[in-house]
Amino acid sequence: MDHLPIFLDLKDKKTLVTGGGTTAARRTERALEAGANVYIFADELCAEFDHLSNRPQITHFRRLPVAEDMNDTVVAWGCSEDGGDNLLVELARAHNVLVNVADIIEDCDFITPSIVDRDPLIVAISTGGASPILARTIRARLEVMLPAAYGDLVRFVGRFRDKAMGKLKTGAQRLRFWEAVSTGPVSDLFLAGDEAGAEKQLDRELAAAASGASRPGLGEVYLVGAGPGDPDLLTFRALRLMQLADVVVHDRLIGEGIMKLVRRDAERIYVGKMPKQHIVPQEEISRMLVRLAKQGKRVLRLKGGDPFIFGRGGEEIEALAAEKIPFQVVPGVTAASGCSSYAGIPLTHRDHAQACVFTTAHGRDGVLDVDWDVLLRPNQTVAIYMGLSNIQHLCKGFIDRGADPDLPVAIIDKGTRPDQKVVIATVSTLRNKIKDEKLDGPAMIVVGTVVNLRKKLSWYQTRSGSMHANYGSEDAQAWLPEKT
Ligand SMILES: C[S@@+](CC[C@H](N)C(=O)[O-])C[C@H]1O[C@@H](n2cnc3c(N)ncnc32)[C@H](O)[C@@H]1O
Repeated sequence: MDHLPIFLDLKDKKTLVTGGGTTAARRTERALEAGANVYIFADELCAEFDHLSNRPQITHFRRLPVAEDMNDTVVAWGCSEDGGDNLLVELARAHNVLVNVADIIEDCDFITPSIVDRDPLIVAISTGGASPILARTIRARLEVMLPAAYGDLVRFVGRFRDKAMGKLKTGAQRLRFWEAVSTGPVSDLFLAGDEAGAEKQLDRELAAAASGASRPGLGEVYLVGAGPGDPDLLTFRALRLMQLADVVVHDRLIGEGIMKLVRRDAERIYVGKMPKQHIVPQEEISRMLVRLAKQGKRVLRLKGGDPFIFGRGGEEIEALAAEKIPFQVVPGVTAASGCSSYAGIPLTHRDHAQACVFTTAHGRDGVLDVDWDVLLRPNQTVAIYMGLSNIQHLCKGFIDRGADPDLPVAIIDKGTRPDQKVVIATVSTLRNKIKDEKLDGPAMIVVGTVVNLRKKLSWYQTRSGSMHANYGSEDAQAWLPEKT
C-alpha cells in the first residue's frame, strides 16, 4: 500500500488553497464541510465560489502565499490552473505542511480521495493517483448502493451503542446483534422512514439477544415496481431491497436483466400470468406472501412497472395489512411513462395535450369495457394498458364515436427493451398497418396528436440499431425523423 488511509480532524484548523477555479472551489467546500478555516490565494474567484465567499471561515488574499502563511497550516492544496504551484510546494515542505497539488502526483504528500458522503458515514476511494476517473466510477456505484438516509441510520444506531454494551456482555453477542441490526428489519424500517418502528424493533431484538433467544418473528414484504424492462430504470431503493431479500416472487413482465440484480442466493418463485391464463390465482399469490413473511423471510414481490398502476399491488398489500405483516411499497416507472419516453412521445405537450388518461382495455373479464366519454376529450393523450388484443375494437370505437379518423396512434411493443418496436398509424390506418407486424407484447397504446412529435423526438436505439424499426409503407417518409 503506497498511502495510508486516515481521516483528518480539521475542525478549526488552518488550511490553505491556491487558485480560484473549479478545483479550488471543490477543495474549499470539502475543507469547510470538515470545519476548517480556509485561506485562499487567488487573483480572482470563479462563480463557483459565489455561495462560499461570504462564509466567515474563508479569508481571500489576492497574492501568492509567503512563508508566514504556513504558520499553523495543517494542509495546503495547490489548485492554480496555470501550473504555478511550485512555490506552494516549496513553502509547504519547508514548514512540514502536508501538500497536495491537483493532478501532479510528485507534488502530493497525500491523495484527495473520491468520497461517498453519508455523514457521519464516509467512504473514501483512492487508486493511488493512478486513475481518478476509475475512482469516480466506483464512487458512482457506491452512491447507488448506499441510500441517502444511511448517514441518519448510522446516527440512529449510534444512539444505542451504550445500551447494547450494557446488556450484551460478550463481543460475540454484540457482533451478532449489530449484524442483525444492520442487515435486518431495524435498518429496513428506519430507511423506510419509520424511526419509531425501528426503535421498537431494536429494543425487541436487544432483549432477545440479551436473553440468549434467537431473533423471532415476522419477516417483511417489499412490494417493488421494477419498471417496464430496462434495468437502468430501477430506483435506488428497489435495487437495495432486491439485494436484501431472501425470496423473490416475480411475474412475467420481469426480464432476466432485472432478475440478475436480485440477490444471487435468494429463492425465486415465478407466479407469472399469461393473458387470459392466470397461472397462479391472485388470492393464492397474496396467501403465499403472507405465508413466506410468517416464516420470518424478507419477501421481494417484484412487479413490472409500478405496483399501484394496473398491478393489483393494492390487493396484495390489503392481504398483508389484514395479517399485520410489515410491508413497504417502492414505486416503479410505469409502462406508459417508460414506453412513451423511449418512443420519443411526450404524454403531455403545451401544443397537443394538457391531460393524459391511463386506462386499461382489458376489462375485468377480458371484454372491452372503457368509458368513451372520458377517452374522447380534446387536447388529451390516452395511454392504454393491456390493449393489444383489443386494438381493432379500440380503433373502431374511436372512429364510431366521432374521433378524427386521422387521430394518431402508436403501439409500443416491448417498450424500453433492446427489441422495442414502435408502430405508428392513425385510428383508421392501424388495422392495415399491423397486419404483417409481429407484435408479441407487452404493448402500450398511445392515442393522441402527441404521437406526431416522435418525428422529431425519437432517440432510443434498439438492438437492431434502428430507432424506427417499423414504420409502415405508405407514409413512411413523412414519419422519418430529421436526424437520421
Ligand atoms: C398488468 S399491466 C401492468 C402494468 C404495470 N404495473 C405498470 O405500471 O406498467 C401489464 C401491461 O402493462 C403494459 N406494459 C408493461 N410493460 C411494458 C413494456 N415493456 N412495453 C409495453 N407495454 C408494457 C402492457 O400494456 C401490459 O399489457
